[in-house]
Amino acid sequence: MSTDFPTMTTAEIRAAYLRFFEERGCKAYPSSSLVPDDPSLLLANAGMNQFKEYYQGKRTMKEIGACSCQKCVRTNDIDVIGSDGRHLSFFEMLGNFSFGGVSKEQACSWAYELITEVFKLPADRLYFTVFTEDDETHAIWRSLGVPENHISRLGEDDNFWAAGPTGPCGPCSEIYFDQGEASGCGSPDCAPGCDCDRYLEFWNLVFTQFDRQEDGSMPELPHRNLDTGMGLERMAAIMQHKSSNYDGDLMQSLIALGAQISGQVYEADVYSGPSRSLRIIADAARAVTFLIADGVLPGNEGRGYVLRRLLRRAVFHGRMLGIQTAFLNLFSQEVTSLMGDAYPELLENKDLITGIIKAEEERFSTTLESGRVYLDEALSHVSAGEALAGSTAFMLHDTFGFPIDLTVEIAEAQGVHVDMDGFDAAMTEQRSRARAAVEGDAWGSFNDVWTELADELRPTEFVGYDHGSVDDVEVLALVKDGVRVSSAAVGETVEIVLDRTPFYAEMGGQVGDSGTLQGADAELKVCDTKLKSGLYVHHAEVLYGSVSVGDCVTGAIDERRRALIRRNHTATHLLDAALKLVLGEHVHQAGSLLDDERLRFDFTHFEALTTEQIQRIESMVNDEILAAKPVLTQMMNIDDAKAAGAVALFGEKYGDVVRVVSVGSENRPFSRELCGGTHVANSAEIGIFKIISESSTGSNVRRIEAMTSLGALAYLNEKEQLLDQAAAELKCRPEEVSLRIADTKRQLRESEQKLKASLMGGASSRVQDALASAVEVDGYHAVIARMDGLEAKELRDVWDALRSRSQVTALACVLATATPEGKVGLLAAATDDAVAAGFMAGKMIASIAEKVGGRGGGKPTMAQAGGKDVAGIDAALELARELLGR
Ligand code: ALA
Repeated sequence: MSTDFPTMTTAEIRAAYLRFFEERGCKAYPSSSLVPDDPSLLLANAGMNQFKEYYQGKRTMKEIGACSCQKCVRTNDIDVIGSDGRHLSFFEMLGNFSFGGVSKEQACSWAYELITEVFKLPADRLYFTVFTEDDETHAIWRSLGVPENHISRLGEDDNFWAAGPTGPCGPCSEIYFDQGEASGCGSPDCAPGCDCDRYLEFWNLVFTQFDRQEDGSMPELPHRNLDTGMGLERMAAIMQHKSSNYDGDLMQSLIALGAQISGQVYEADVYSGPSRSLRIIADAARAVTFLIADGVLPGNEGRGYVLRRLLRRAVFHGRMLGIQTAFLNLFSQEVTSLMGDAYPELLENKDLITGIIKAEEERFSTTLESGRVYLDEALSHVSAGEALAGSTAFMLHDTFGFPIDLTVEIAEAQGVHVDMDGFDAAMTEQRSRARAAVEGDAWGSFNDVWTELADELRPTEFVGYDHGSVDDVEVLALVKDGVRVSSAAVGETVEIVLDRTPFYAEMGGQVGDSGTLQGADAELKVCDTKLKSGLYVHHAEVLYGSVSVGDCVTGAIDERRRALIRRNHTATHLLDAALKLVLGEHVHQAGSLLDDERLRFDFTHFEALTTEQIQRIESMVNDEILAAKPVLTQMMNIDDAKAAGAVALFGEKYGDVVRVVSVGSENRPFSRELCGGTHVANSAEIGIFKIISESSTGSNVRRIEAMTSLGALAYLNEKEQLLDQAAAELKCRPEEVSLRIADTKRQLRESEQKLKASLMGGASSRVQDALASAVEVDGYHAVIARMDGLEAKELRDVWDALRSRSQVTALACVLATATPEGKVGLLAAATDDAVAAGFMAGKMIASIAEKVGGRGGGKPTMAQAGGKDVAGIDAALELARELLGR
């Protein structure tokens, strides 16, 4: 077996791969974001994700094919990461792709050339698998010189690839590297596909030719495609004469950092203990850093949960290694310095990445402690040798974010094992709930009426930046209840597609326009406009006449409403810029909503804003408004726009040409953002900007709500009116209101104290009188008395006073009061000795309450009732006497 081949670093392999395919006519594409465009796919998991529409024939490419190095996250095996040399949550996939432009022969021969001539891997260590029925690929490998005994055929499980249950798929052929007998299981049947470590798969060539449907049928795709994927970490290990994904140069830099911080030693062939923890941290550090850079924030669902889980697992393993302080950020900085050249988004978002990681690590440290308390409590009910319930372990996992290994570890230290079946069952249940929450499959559903229309019609031309109304626009389609119709009559509501429109469709936080459509003999009211598959869809009601496909209409937006929306939108840009100046560059827009009444802006920040910060931000924005700055919109190349400092939406994808909106001078604008929304021409139109609230919307995201122009004025007027009303009530001037309230509160407190003193003072002598009137019943003394003027609850104080002053230990009472509000309060109470002698407070109250029109009850020692009928008090007490036999 040859061992003689050159070594290459990860960066060299990445560059050589892309160069090889570019030289052969494939266009190099940057990695797409980890957050896919496809709403049904949680995270990018393969290089082909970004080319889905090319496979389906919805888009075409000029070049014969494409190549990329794609960031991927796969989440199915998070728990086993670190325990072997293969699994990674984040990895880079080198791929080449073609949509009919490259034949199978060509693809295989390129692959063979790359690995044997560029990477110079020895042919005697290369093995190939093909799909059982795929004689064609078998023959191709043979023709390239691969010996028969280096090719095996495998079935669907191994050699048929699909991104999801439906969509493009096809047979594949995999290339393996023989790591030598010593790494293998030794079985005579050992061959590529065996579970042992001898044959390492490093490149998968998928011949995507089918489009699997919901019903399982597999029609051919428009052309025969190619989708290949080579694990970069795996290739790096091979090219560096190592066997584990973790032992290539890049991962080793991260592992070395962990070893240095913790003082632990990494052993490449040990899959437990500190070596395992070091791997887990190295892996998670990359995933966490890249996820945040692509706009994912820690959360309890979906992508946010994946991020949180990986981050917490890393923090926990840091603690296991003995690192007591926050450390993950150091790893993330290392990731940025190792990979920032290839992935500039890491450098662009470094403050944000740092902030999020620090905040989440801090939060989890607290959770770790409370989870520990919960676990210790649960363990105190389980003896050594017994099992901790799976549901408890799941609860710790789910609520406290305790990784299961942590629970197992702590339990085992006390001789307790964890019911893993129960844990798995709870987990499976949660997973199926989570799956149900993600609609559709990995390919999404393309079959609705809007996709059909989008295929047929050109994207709507939006003319609303310059025009509020346009004549002669053609009705291209009408949709009612999800079905295309040819016309709609008075009273009906329909969705309308026009060839051109002045109506802005809801996008980028800005709401859709409303207005009217006027035809020759029809009028429609447009209540909202939305974007569906590139078409502007007007939601309209026919007010009179009828409208048909092919009609010409005049579209006019509600200009007054648009003007209000516009002001709020430009103000949002000013707010964003002011936030960055006051709080720092880690502020990124996390969401926004702006309509004609207000604007709402969510942004990344780690603590509540102080009143002083809010005031500074507000006045900064108002300064820009009062300075009457011009607002400029320009179309620019994306790279020029970024170079000019335009703020891009965090995690958002843009085309090559973008619209840039700047407020202020062209050279030094106060704000410059990529934005497709509608804006004022000059900041002075905004009039006034008022922040009305600042709050939290979840971890690390704050929300500001604000108003501008007429809305802000109405808001301030309303506040003024409220103040005037309060002043009128308090009979003072508005500026004296708060002083007057403080004064009134003080007076009220004093009066309450006086009242209580006089009542209880009086009660005290009444307590003496009552005690003196106590009657003796079989073995105890009973006080039956009226205490008018006290609150019902103050009867308890009387009972306390009676008990403390009485000489006897067997004491009971039945007390009544006509309260200051004109109600009745009854209380019966007894010491334990009196109860032992036969007094039952609950029964007593239940019997006498009806005399005062009330109901009540309680324990033998204490019972209460309320009533409305003050005139019945004497009768109630009389009845009490009778019941006691007096
Ligand atoms: N898409 C194929 C894979 O992920 C290449 O293996």
